[in-house]
Amino acid sequence: MRAPHVFIETFGCQMNEYDTELVRSILKEKGYRFTDAVETADVVLLNTCAIRENAHNKVYGHLGALKPLKKDKGLVIGVLGCMAQNLKKDLLEDDSLIDVLAGPDSYRSLPELLEKAAAGRKGMAVDLSEYETYADITPDRIEGVTAWIAVMRGCDNFCTFCVVPYTRGRERSRDFDGVVREAEALAASGCRQVTLLGQNVNSYRDGARDFADLLLAVADVRGIERVRFTSPHPKDFPEKLLEAVAGHPGICKHIHLPLQAGSDRILQLMDRTYTRAEYLALAGRIRARCPEIVLTTDIIVGFCSETDAEFAETEDLMRHMEYHSAYIFKYSERKNTIAARKYADDVPDAVKSERVTKLIEFQRAVSLKKNREMLGKTVDVLVEGEAKRSSDRWMGRTDGNIVAMFPKTSTTRKPRSLVSVRITDATITTLYGELV
Ligand code: 5AD
Ligand code: SF4
Repeated sequence: MRAPHVFIETFGCQMNEYDTELVRSILKEKGYRFTDAVETADVVLLNTCAIRENAHNKVYGHLGALKPLKKDKGLVIGVLGCMAQNLKKDLLEDDSLIDVLAGPDSYRSLPELLEKAAAGRKGMAVDLSEYETYADITPDRIEGVTAWIAVMRGCDNFCTFCVVPYTRGRERSRDFDGVVREAEALAASGCRQVTLLGQNVNSYRDGARDFADLLLAVADVRGIERVRFTSPHPKDFPEKLLEAVAGHPGICKHIHLPLQAGSDRILQLMDRTYTRAEYLALAGRIRARCPEIVLTTDIIVGFCSETDAEFAETEDLMRHMEYHSAYIFKYSERKNTIAARKYADDVPDAVKSERVTKLIEFQRAVSLKKNREMLGKTVDVLVEGEAKRSSDRWMGRTDGNIVAMFPKTSTTRKPRSLVSVRITDATITTLYGELV
């Protein structure tokens, strides 16, 4: 009998990309095969995100598009990840397209759920666990020079806007030595860069050892040239972590430091647990200790009751910070969050849109200016592959995580290690240069 073929599509954050690698590993072990063509699949899995309304809508769009295939071929459809929790009701409806729901802590039960679904029985596993870290499962990675390792899962911060603590549950960390061994195995298979992932990565802890210890240990693994991490919370960025980033040549000089808002009243409503002044002081300390650091951020505009004057404080803080890049979002109310229960989502959508546009335009000018400062400089680039839109160029990233491209020469095979590139041109998002 032909082994069942699975098509899996991933939405959302890097943690979801990583989880897809775990799911591939779990299913391959049970004899499933994977396909890139949805038409040849027996099972379609959508690994979903719930962070904002448009993430939700995208998934509904994809589900709708699967309807004809489901009808013709009796496709098994599974929804995984953060939306699984919210879809319980839909699953139980008779005409539902969905056969299987599995939340982020339930991927071990997927083979059983899929088997039952193939026999016509719908099922779900959406319980959250206080312990599941999948530490014993080696993700089925696409082999390359970069890899992710999830070192902690879940989040205990309960920022009032955020659904993550409900969809991914409580914080838990993987064991220290297991992470280091995984990095060693990756290095042995040719990987040169590891990104340590966690919803709240600097809350990592294993006994007496904290995130800075882990970062240093992974950076010391022979063969690993670069270590990155995402995302830290500004509330716990101790001196020791800054020392590790600034002092170890293998730890990338890039910190993603989500600000969310520049007004103290809004920060308090969001329960971010820092003030504007505290955030600025932290950024100042980071820049003083490590002047070459690349700082990036996340911003939410139009949070409940945000006034024009409060929005202007976010604008002002961004002007002061001059981030290298920023993700800017409209506030999107998520069911069951503290904000949804306590505050009215009362900033009109048109006002949110206006605020987003204003910040994006401002940020584009800053990003261009920062990238243009690189002109004439020679930087180390780790090549990830061919440029998407031009097969005669390599694409890689600088230490600060900026995309850099340079022409292939007739003799270049894909470099598997850091190369020196002299920057000759820059746009808002990309540096262009030549190999030196
Ligand atoms: N609405 C808009 N943006 C959100 N984020 C998280 N929750 C919401 C929400 N309800 C943003 C935050 C976070 C990033 C991952 O997504 O800026 O840092
Ligand atoms: Fe959400 Fe806040 Fe946790 Fe980030 S730290 S995942 S924004 S609750």
